[in-house]
Amino acid sequence: MKKVITYGTYDLLHQGHLNLLRRAKALGDYLIVGVTTDNFDIERGKLNVRNNVMERIKAVVDTGLADQIIIEEYVGQKIDDIQKYGVDIFAIGSDWEGKFDYLKEYCEVVYLPRTEGVSSTQLREESMPTIKLGIIGTGSIAERMVLESKYVSGVELTAVLNPNISEAKIFAEKYGIENVYDNIEEFSKAVSAAYVASPHLTHYCYTKYLLQQGKHVLNELPFTLAENEAKELFDLAYAQKLILMDAIKTAYSPAFRHLITLVKSGLIGDVVDVEAAQSTLEPTPRKLDASMAGGGMTEDADFSLLPIMMLLGDNYNSISFVSKMKNGVDIYTRCMMTYHNATASFKIGLGIKTEGDLVISGTKGYLYVPAPWWKPSYFEVRFEDATKNKKYFYSYEGEGLRYELQEFVSNIFYGRSQNRHLPHQLTVSMAKVQEIYKSGEHRIIIE
Ligand code: CTP
Repeated sequence: MKKVITYGTYDLLHQGHLNLLRRAKALGDYLIVGVTTDNFDIERGKLNVRNNVMERIKAVVDTGLADQIIIEEYVGQKIDDIQKYGVDIFAIGSDWEGKFDYLKEYCEVVYLPRTEGVSSTQLREESMPTIKLGIIGTGSIAERMVLESKYVSGVELTAVLNPNISEAKIFAEKYGIENVYDNIEEFSKAVSAAYVASPHLTHYCYTKYLLQQGKHVLNELPFTLAENEAKELFDLAYAQKLILMDAIKTAYSPAFRHLITLVKSGLIGDVVDVEAAQSTLEPTPRKLDASMAGGGMTEDADFSLLPIMMLLGDNYNSISFVSKMKNGVDIYTRCMMTYHNATASFKIGLGIKTEGDLVISGTKGYLYVPAPWWKPSYFEVRFEDATKNKKYFYSYEGEGLRYELQEFVSNIFYGRSQNRHLPHQLTVSMAKVQEIYKSGEHRIIIE
């Protein structure tokens, strides 16, 4: 019996898939079809797959062409499968021509003609109205978002806003953005959604105006600097049935998402402490500018509060800060929080360097994410018995902003008002921490 194997995602199963499966089956007597898992697709950069793995498997079953279905979940699995199932022929579409020649050592490799004019990507794009996205702000994070947006389907970058029109024009020209504005009223008319990456103190006003105009908003951190402002914005978004998201990029990255689910499922026992740190020796001048709400807390505290609040919640009993100040901004802050059953702490340095790692301590073991933990691609779970330690690896593509943008687009598409990866309540609580810090309460200043 001649065994043939082929692999794919098979999202929104289409005629091209059917033709391919028929041709593959015709090469032998028995067809094995490998369907990728959702995680494996995310890892290899396919962020926008519409059907989940069960739906995709069912679609392949329904073709009646597969004699056996297996799931593909890791790089290198093809060699293992070929040996395990005694495969004679590996078949794949001609779009992969040459890419699987390394399998010739194990079996025959056949590239089958690809059906022209249809693909899952095309079907996804056709079934989804393109979101006209505008960017407010032209700083480095806005630049990174422009580059990252190219990896997310369903968005078209159509407008940029900067009150300084010449800066907006330079930005638009550099990145080929059609519409340039210096005022929110005109900008808002040109977009269906906006990414707010303007100076901290303007986040609240821009976001509020955009929501009032019926626009979806992805708002950079710090979301707002006051609890009631954050709450008001979410209330407005609910009332208007709009998507409002906190752009803490770490929250949406594959590694961080998995880390949270692993810890919540009890892998390291009960969490008793979360400790995070972040520092840079090269802060931009804006980060040290008191008139623009610069300083370590506003710049970076939300990153550290993310694992703390995702794992321990926001019902802490006490919070205190120690800060070293320079020209009215905190260049170093250490924060300590206590919960009824746990503690948490973080350190932030602007011009002071420290190890930027994350340690989550539990009753059975601990989870260690090395620096830069806020751009995670690897972490380790460690136990008393070191033979049980395990390392976990993930992709963290480019600047990592594509993950949050993809989630934003998919939330708009599915009308998902709740944020699956960062509950709104926690964003509100992070704004409250900013407010407490700003009030000077529970804060000690050192020389
Ligand atoms: N395929 C094909 N003809 C098409 C589309 C896909 O022959 N028009 C083949 C691919 O070459 C591959 C298999 O179908 O062997 C599964 O591909 P998959 O990546 O699931 O489908 P695509 O439509 O290419 O998906 P996407 O657009 O997400 O890349």
